[in-house]
Amino acid sequence: MKDYETEYPDFRAAPHHEHGDELPSNRSVNRTMYQVIEARASRRGFMVGGLSAIAAGLFGAGLSPRAALAQTTAPASLLGFAAVPISKDDVVVVPAGYAAQVLAPWGTPITGDMPAYAPGANTGAEQGMQVGSHHDGMHFFAIDGSSTDGLLVMNHEYIEPRLLHAAKWAGQAVDGDTVLFDANGLRDDDEVLKEMNAHGCSVMRVTRGADGQWAVVADPMNRRITALTEMGFSGPVAGTPHLATKYSPDGTRTRGTLNNCANGYTPWNTYMTAEENWAGYFVNADAEQPRTQKRYGLPADGARYGWDKAASGDEAYARFNAAVTGAAPTDDYRNEPNGFGWLVEFDPFDPDALPIKRTHLGRFAHEGIVFAPPVAGQPIVCYSGDDSRFEYIYKFVSAQAYDPATASGALLDAGTLYVARFNEDGSGDWLALAPGEHGLTPENGFADLADILVNTRAAADLAGATKMDRPEWGAVDPNSGEVYFTLTNNTRRSQTEVDAVNPRAENAFGQIVRWKYEAGAHTATRFEWELFVIAGTPRQSLTLDGQALGDDSTFACPDGIWCDDNSRLWIQTDMGDVGPDQTGPLAPFGMNQMLAADPTTGEIRRFMTGPWGQEITGITMTPDGQTMFINVQHPGGHASDTDFAAGNYGSGFPDYNGTVPRSATLVISRADGGVIGT
Ligand code: FEO
Ligand code: CA
Ligand code: CA
Repeated sequence: MKDYETEYPDFRAAPHHEHGDELPSNRSVNRTMYQVIEARASRRGFMVGGLSAIAAGLFGAGLSPRAALAQTTAPASLLGFAAVPISKDDVVVVPAGYAAQVLAPWGTPITGDMPAYAPGANTGAEQGMQVGSHHDGMHFFAIDGSSTDGLLVMNHEYIEPRLLHAAKWAGQAVDGDTVLFDANGLRDDDEVLKEMNAHGCSVMRVTRGADGQWAVVADPMNRRITALTEMGFSGPVAGTPHLATKYSPDGTRTRGTLNNCANGYTPWNTYMTAEENWAGYFVNADAEQPRTQKRYGLPADGARYGWDKAASGDEAYARFNAAVTGAAPTDDYRNEPNGFGWLVEFDPFDPDALPIKRTHLGRFAHEGIVFAPPVAGQPIVCYSGDDSRFEYIYKFVSAQAYDPATASGALLDAGTLYVARFNEDGSGDWLALAPGEHGLTPENGFADLADILVNTRAAADLAGATKMDRPEWGAVDPNSGEVYFTLTNNTRRSQTEVDAVNPRAENAFGQIVRWKYEAGAHTATRFEWELFVIAGTPRQSLTLDGQALGDDSTFACPDGIWCDDNSRLWIQTDMGDVGPDQTGPLAPFGMNQMLAADPTTGEIRRFMTGPWGQEITGITMTPDGQTMFINVQHPGGHASDTDFAAGNYGSGFPDYNGTVPRSATLVISRADGGVIGT
């Protein structure tokens, strides 16, 4: 391991750079893997008697009941497919006996006039009727329980402007983060509109034909939700002065959702979309930013895509400048950023439904949301990670009990938001972020519940939560109730900042933590945790059974994670925009990939690999388990500015005809029609 600042003086060239990252700081030499294992063992009070002994003792006093059972009865593995090797090719590879079909690439017409896709040349209005870009979290909503007919709902996390405007910007040296301004420093309005319309979510009806191929079909339920769609607020922050803007003086409405990364689906069959790296879309160059902006890293020197600089000055665009310009908050957009950083719920079956930002779930860089299996008569419990370095994991427990007959999003409007503290001894505590709890008082700067929620990060700081290595997706095993969270990497953690759950300094590879409750009670404030896997090369990894990852399982940077009905755990990687010429610590892992794991044995096996430059993210299945949908996001993202100028877009996926690459869904099935993964 090298010192990243020395090795990568330009942070954008460093491994793990993702769009929206800030400048790295504070590096130190990494510990060796041996030291990590030794520290982990001694913290837990074990005699070092071999790696297996360490791993066996990690969860509570000994093996979990299922693991103990596994030792005596050796059940068949949950994983029934042949592992695929690491890939450095610009293709999709799935196991023998499986097929992958491309569905719904960026630009696919789904609503309105159904405008045909024109590579890098559609107008802004046309984009608003087509599938957005950079597919991420998604869910298949079966229609009448069907496994061949349903609504596929997906997030569009961000964009590469150069791909959206490829026809117009051809021949210019533009990298994936850059936008072009005119001589007056302003942006073309239609470019801005297209970029905003490529964000948000797509709702589309998908069906499987007699030939086994899936297709997007025109349907009145098809819908685009974008960075301009009107949305409401609910919960404690709704209707407070925190959300008052010129657009919505009473603080009840806003426009759009941004940087929708992972998703969730509720027990009452609605979709939830998470607003992750939204802060960079704004700018505020005022001398002093309020903590609602500063603690979220709002830029002072320019917004990510410069939407605030649209030439027309239209307020729908200008609102991304959050500077104080008017006499009162209702005269300007100083509070516009307070309308972002939430989880948004909508009913996919009602194309007119107003999406609702549920403020009691907290305001941060939400990666996604996952619900514990609902229990009638008990509160609803859900979990969400804040994906930024040294941020936290949260859970919400509803005040009202779950009743399957009446359950709705209103359950998410009253309850308690907690933040996690992972103790060194393998226990953990959920710390309530509520008035009067953990110092959250007016004297300490938190006036009331709304003030706590709009400043969730600051409240969690005060409560004493554990600073994590970038919490990404969470998953709940529907059978055991165990909760999993991916901690993707954190190359900024120093030697003095390591702890039991984040055990590596300059953590380039990430780990997966899991926890459980006594009697499976997700409402409890005490839990027991362990590291399910420490990812990396064979020399830098540790599996549940005390072994290292091998040729069939080595991976880095877990991001997406989801547990299917059979407890098969699916793990997706995001090492950033890795291409075939990747060098440095991530080179051994090839292209981003998806693996499956057996939660009982800890076995991990590589299921598929993707093309150049992309990450695999988003996952859902049909009810029969025979069709899996995953997304390929940002193919070709590693292409440099000079590559683009030369017409080399970094990947051919999925059209492979010389046009710009496109994020797209992959439909995975088995030739024999069996359940995926078995
Ligand atoms: Fe959008 Fe944290 O991945
Ligand atoms: Ca992600
Ligand atoms: Ca990602």
